[in-house]
Amino acid sequence: ARITLRQLLDHAAEHEYGLPAFNINNMEQGLAIMEAADAVDSPVIIQASRGARNYANDIMLAKMIDALVDIYPHIPVCMHQDHGNGPATCATAIQYGFTSVMMDGSLMEDAKTPASYEYNVEVTRRVVEMAHACGVSVEGELGVLGSLETGMGEAEDGHGFEGKLSHDELLTDPDQAVDFVQATGVDALAIAMGTSHGAYKFTRKPDGDVLAMNVIEEIHRRLPNTHLVMHGSSSVPQELQDIINAYGGEMPQTWGVPVEEIQRGIKHGVRKVNVDTDNRLAITGAVRKILIEKPHEFDPRAYLKPAKDAMRKVCQDRFEQFGSAGHA
Ligand code: G3H
Ligand code: 13P
Ligand code: NA
Ligand code: ZN
Repeated sequence: ARITLRQLLDHAAEHEYGLPAFNINNMEQGLAIMEAADAVDSPVIIQASRGARNYANDIMLAKMIDALVDIYPHIPVCMHQDHGNGPATCATAIQYGFTSVMMDGSLMEDAKTPASYEYNVEVTRRVVEMAHACGVSVEGELGVLGSLETGMGEAEDGHGFEGKLSHDELLTDPDQAVDFVQATGVDALAIAMGTSHGAYKFTRKPDGDVLAMNVIEEIHRRLPNTHLVMHGSSSVPQELQDIINAYGGEMPQTWGVPVEEIQRGIKHGVRKVNVDTDNRLAITGAVRKILIEKPHEFDPRAYLKPAKDAMRKVCQDRFEQFGSAGHA
């Protein structure tokens, strides 16, 4: 059945677990998420970016979600707009049956230019008013995602801004977080503490200098009843990098967010954990492996099924590691 983000995260807070939010672009990803949830009895957050909506077509995506909910009627499913760039994107998501939207007002509508605090408050407040009137939840974002190693802030597409941002701009300010939640009425707050989107987050295993988990602890102390969201939370497992590189890939060595750091976040109010890259890596590794090992093969199912199964394993691992398994 469909459920709002608010309902899911309230339950997660009460029972002190976190929920992965997985991105969807196609049928195989949708099936992978639901098969994993069914296997471990977890509720689900499926999210679609603007790019995903363009790729799959809004109608295709909406009917695919309908189908997944019909196939697994016992699994609670929240359908969430990832990184909405303005009220129009959030409104059309709601028209297509999404039960939750992210208004990312940390960037301007071009999803590239860092926005002022005042713009962020105003646009987020407007989306909350509209979405709540429709019974839909809202995630806001405060602070610019980006690398504390390089000072590069990040546009929504994962590409860096021109010029460097200061440490302060890349970390959510706890005082401002208190003001923002009060002024906007968001159901969940995404915060910046050194993660970035994509595979290339850190050039070594991250420590407190580049992954500021203490910011989460401080914000949770100040806002104990606000559901916190971690973006850019793929762990970029070594074994998935190795499979890609063993079968013709050329990914330079990189590090993601260690699962134990996410688990520490979950102890301090993190309830939604966005994971896309790990699933992309799992799918790509499986496809590369089959195409290299079976060069005569040309039935797409021969590599898309293993790809789906590889993603299902990642999803199942995260449901178990974040503690949502058993809570469907
Ligand atoms: O926000 C980042 C997510 O991984 C979605 O990525 O915009 O390429 O679909 P995308
Ligand atoms: P990753 O690129 O780390 O998977 O992050 C995904 C994300 O934050 C989507 O909003
Ligand atoms: Na989101
Ligand atoms: Zn994100």
